[in-house]
Amino acid sequence: MFGHSHLFGDIFDLIMDSGGRLSKVVLNMPPEPPSSRRLALADRLGRLPYPVETVDLGHWKPNPEESYVIGFSRKQMKPLLDQLASRFGIDSFGTLVHSRATIQHGAVVSESAMIDANAVVGPWARIGRHVFVNRGASVGHDCDVGDFSFLAPSSTLCGYVRLCEDVMIGAGATILPDIAIGAGAQVAAGTVVTKDVPPGTAVAGVPARVRRNP
Ligand SMILES: CC(C)(COP(=O)(O)OP(=O)(O)OC[C@H]1O[C@@H](n2cnc3c(N)ncnc32)[C@H](O)[C@@H]1OP(=O)(O)O)[C@@H](O)C(=O)NCCC(=O)NCCS
Repeated sequence: MFGHSHLFGDIFDLIMDSGGRLSKVVLNMPPEPPSSRRLALADRLGRLPYPVETVDLGHWKPNPEESYVIGFSRKQMKPLLDQLASRFGIDSFGTLVHSRATIQHGAVVSESAMIDANAVVGPWARIGRHVFVNRGASVGHDCDVGDFSFLAPSSTLCGYVRLCEDVMIGAGATILPDIAIGAGAQVAAGTVVTKDVPPGTAVAGVPARVRRNP
């Protein structure tokens, strides 16, 4: 498993739920002094019923017997993805859909996307690659969620919403029907978006107003 540390718990749960088995947890811990957050993560991993191997990706070798999943939190993980492809030839990852998630008729979930517990992907919606739909998020019918986007818990996309690449929708935010959100935009927690959002901006409030320009 590769991924962003704050998504580790969710990814772990998704793997267990899908009947998968972690043979080991590989923690990419480069040699420089690790941050307190990383040490706390290592401590948490150490208490799992799996061997934990701390590696420096610089010296790591993939095992052809193993398959890998990757948990993303937007494009900040792109360098890791590029490194895995160019150095190790790992360019395909598992797609994980929780057994308590609902994928409705005609919906498409692309490779390496993750759909967490109690999320709903409505009819004919498309979820792009490396998208993370977090707990309880709802994607309406005919929505298009661009690659690398992240939907925080309990966020709602009404019908026909289009998210470009690398969009972050904060917890509990609602995007009204037929809205387009530009690449790299961030929608703050609890926001109600009533108009299209320009690329790279951060919007917040009810109704949403631009709070930060690119
Ligand atoms: C959108 C977000 C990323 C912006 O963060 P930021 O760039 O650090 O912005 P700031 O905190 O400096 O806020 C900028 C302005 O927006 C306002 N704002 C931020 N979040 C807001 C919110 N949820 N609702 C209303 N206003 C908000 C701030 O009060 C500030 O206003 P001001 O300039 O008048 O003081 C962040 O607010 C957010 O909502 N993140 C999502 C959190 C989340 O859902 N996480 C789930 C993880 S699973």
